[in-house]
Amino acid sequence: MAFPINRLRRLRRNETLRRMVRETRLAPDDFIQPYFVCPGRGVNKPVAAMPGVAQLSVDNVLRAARETHEADVPAIILFGIPERKDDRGSGAWDDDGPVQRAIREIKDHLPGLAVITDVCMCEYTDHGHCGVIAGNDVDNDATLELLVREALSHVRAGADMVAPSDMMDGRVAAIRTGLDNQQFTHIPILAYSAKFASAFYGPFREAAESTPQFGDRRSYQMDPPNGDEAMREIALDLDEGADIVMVKPALPYLDLIYRAKHEFNVPVAAYNVSGEYAMIRAAGINGWLDEERATMEVLTAIKRAGADMILTYFATQVAQRLR
Ligand code: PBG
Repeated sequence: MAFPINRLRRLRRNETLRRMVRETRLAPDDFIQPYFVCPGRGVNKPVAAMPGVAQLSVDNVLRAARETHEADVPAIILFGIPERKDDRGSGAWDDDGPVQRAIREIKDHLPGLAVITDVCMCEYTDHGHCGVIAGNDVDNDATLELLVREALSHVRAGADMVAPSDMMDGRVAAIRTGLDNQQFTHIPILAYSAKFASAFYGPFREAAESTPQFGDRRSYQMDPPNGDEAMREIALDLDEGADIVMVKPALPYLDLIYRAKHEFNVPVAAYNVSGEYAMIRAAGINGWLDEERATMEVLTAIKRAGADMILTYFATQVAQRLR
């Protein structure tokens, strides 16, 4: 019953037919837009390696968030650049820090937009690592209580969801307990569960000013070749109470997005990270590829692999285009 009876080209003949059999469609609901909040007023400081992305002060983040909301994107995720950094990252739980102020401002003006916060120490420590340093390494258990303080500070400011990205063992359980003890039982945790030590975070570290000042993150972020271990990370985070699990980066790990969705049947997020954004932007700006088509193809592939939501710097502009 193969050729000539079967001709798959029949359903590709024109756009109307293609629309009828299209299996995956992007919608504004699929996206989460990241923003980088910095101190000051009227600040819009472009990130060189991410054309179109900038560090924004609270007033400008509010303006940008309104655009995101008007494009029907349901959520944003905030990253903070503090006024001052120290070895413990104490700016992370400053109730008056840029992220906390941005949360209050956004929830005040745009109550229907979900505000997620990235919970990690690397933007707040002077050494740039994701936790407290002991000797030459990050002290896992000592870091947990700092992450809990940071998460609580975000939620007290009005955050709708917290997203720990530090990769310490046990942090989902610690944050869950910390939130529950303060009557925040209704706040979900989006866990960066399978987060790899990736070269594709390069541009983000410029955006968040979070480059490690010595060594690298390979003692806590995952080793890129490991897929089974990623599934263990996800299983553990779910046991600890994660509501949504994430695979990050997205494109080089589509197989793991697929496995996560099929092995666990829970909400799966994928982070189309800074380096993935930079590659498309750079090639687009140089005229080496059709940026708009490449963007849609990449985001569609991430969804087709099984992602229920995609964190991407393209979120607002793609959502605007979809309407
Ligand atoms: C913080 C954090 C990072 C990213 C998200 N949260 C950087 C890192 O781990 O070095 C990367 C996001 C991106 O590259 O777009 N730990």
